[in-house]
Amino acid sequence: MNHSNDEQSKPPILVWDWPVRVFHWSLAACIFISFFTGESERYSLLHQTLGYAAAGLLAFRVLWGFSGTRYARFSQFVQSPRAVLAYLKNIKQGVPGHDVGHNPVGGWAVVLLMLLAAATAWTGWLIAPGDAPGWQEELHELTANTLMIVVVIHVIGVIFSSRLHRENLVKAMLTGMKKGDPAQGISNSWWWLAVLLALALIGFVFNQLQV
Ligand code: HEM
Ligand code: HEM
Repeated sequence: MNHSNDEQSKPPILVWDWPVRVFHWSLAACIFISFFTGESERYSLLHQTLGYAAAGLLAFRVLWGFSGTRYARFSQFVQSPRAVLAYLKNIKQGVPGHDVGHNPVGGWAVVLLMLLAAATAWTGWLIAPGDAPGWQEELHELTANTLMIVVVIHVIGVIFSSRLHRENLVKAMLTGMKKGDPAQGISNSWWWLAVLLALALIGFVFNQLQV
């Protein structure tokens, strides 16, 4: 039985609430811009501001990981090594299991991305005064570069998984909708919390940049 074909006939259901989506695309933007402004003297304020903004987004996401909607919770997507191995084994045998939320490998990728992003913001904060020892600068560069390597793997994983299940996961991260049984959907999108998150983020960035 091919699980992915079963999914095609199911209706769209809401999986990613608004805060998760605003978090994701804001974090991606902050990290990409920080990455490409790290070596520029001219953009150092922008670099540091977006790095701190990324840290704030991560702090929010950790809280939401304990209190958010079903598929936003760590307890839902951080699975045992046994579950990860079973998932990989099924792919190898050509019968990939379909997950409404993050798949077992993706769940760990999320944890790794969040840890690396936090480590990069933290080491950046350490070197910000300018008189930090050289190894701390090296460490910031190392965490930033490792983060970008994992981001590339993350995007490849998303594309691979989208093709495997014939379901556009990037679109799902924008609209919040995936195919599944109606009972598996979440009922509250928490749009107003996402508005607050976006306003806090924009307020912080504009205030820092003195726009
Ligand atoms: C600096 C860049 C990026 C970072 C740090 C990042 C990080 C993350 C994180 C932490 C999550 C988990 C979301 C959550 O549960 O809150 C996630 C999921 C996701 N990301 Fe990214 N991301 C980045 C770039 C991208 C890009 C460029 C794409 C599009 C090609 C993308 C597509 C996705 C998708 C589709 C998911 C959901 C995966 C699933 O269905 O399980 N990400 N990303
Ligand atoms: C979390 C996102 C961040 C990313 C992806 C990032 C990435 C980078 C990169 C790639 C460099 C260039 C390293 C090199 O080749 O020399 C750099 C340098 C730097 N970053 Fe960040 N950074 C982030 C956050 C921060 C934060 C929060 C701060 C401070 C508040 C900060 C402060 C600095 C400083 C001062 C430098 C210059 C170091 C030097 O003079 O060599 N960064 N960053």
